[in-house]
Amino acid sequence: MPDAPSDTALSARPAPARTGGELFTEARSAEVVAASFAGTSDPRLRQVLTSLVHHLHAFVKDVELTEEEWGAAIAFLTRTGQMCDDVRQEFILLSDVLGVSMLVETINHRAGGTSTESTVLGPFHMVESPPRELGDNIALDGKGEPCLVTGQVAGSGGEPLGGALVDVWQANDDGFYDVQQPGVQPDRNLRGLFTADDDGRFWFRTIVPRYYPIPDDGPVGELLAATGRHPNRPAHVHFIVTAPGHRPVTTHLFVDGDPYIESDAVFGVKESLVRQFPVVDDPVRAAEVGLPNPFRTVHFDVALLRADEAPPTAQPAQVQPTVVKGAPS
Ligand code: BEZ
Ligand code: FE
Repeated sequence: MPDAPSDTALSARPAPARTGGELFTEARSAEVVAASFAGTSDPRLRQVLTSLVHHLHAFVKDVELTEEEWGAAIAFLTRTGQMCDDVRQEFILLSDVLGVSMLVETINHRAGGTSTESTVLGPFHMVESPPRELGDNIALDGKGEPCLVTGQVAGSGGEPLGGALVDVWQANDDGFYDVQQPGVQPDRNLRGLFTADDDGRFWFRTIVPRYYPIPDDGPVGELLAATGRHPNRPAHVHFIVTAPGHRPVTTHLFVDGDPYIESDAVFGVKESLVRQFPVVDDPVRAAEVGLPNPFRTVHFDVALLRADEAPPTAQPAQVQPTVVKGAPS
């Protein structure tokens, strides 16, 4: 008969000496746990963990979390993790609908009124957008209400930034990005990477985007449904604008009058980014710009801070996309 397993390894380990550390109590739970991080050599990590523990414990005490609720939260977070893969990032989506993404974005890109405000990147950016010529029509299937977009990229002092790169992408008239409808929309529909002219000016033809729902077939969708929230984002055109020596801006141009402009599911709307898209009914002008008459138009100037006017920030390409169903490889 084999010997009973020995617990030599355990018994050989000396019991840790009591060092006068405080034992866990309900009243002092946060302080006791925070003290366990006192030896963290990275001071920022220590600061973040200490604050996290204090806020987390205060929350649990505030709502007197039940064991059942704790279990439901763990199950929810587990499902959120299980939903993630190379092309779907349900945790970012959770951060989005809780307003955390926008808060982090806003804190890290304080513009002080001197540059264009930023907003969330979202999951549908292509790291390599298709280069286009100024004036090109990015609505490759021609569906939707035609629109001329014009603008100028300048520094915070108003100096034109010739050669700035203007990366744009948007949903179609039905509220879908090309990558969500492979085989339905042409590849790279409604995307373009433009190089501004010597005066920093850019212009391109497109269609007026429509509002659309964020991916809501996972735990985040359950959360929205359980709280009576809709999943929609108001119509917008995404922009990433870059120029040498300047801090890039990741932002949106929102369509004024959209039904969801005041209830964006991810809280991305900033007043300074909303524009009217007036109708132009002028056959001569329409012929000049190569659009059917009538057409809509919008002007969106972008101001960038000089790199030395602002702290360095993460580059958008470092962020994993949330969902790109059927994205071309
Ligand atoms: C978007 O605008 O593409 C987006 C942003 C956040 C979550 C989902 C979609
Ligand atoms: Fe979007």
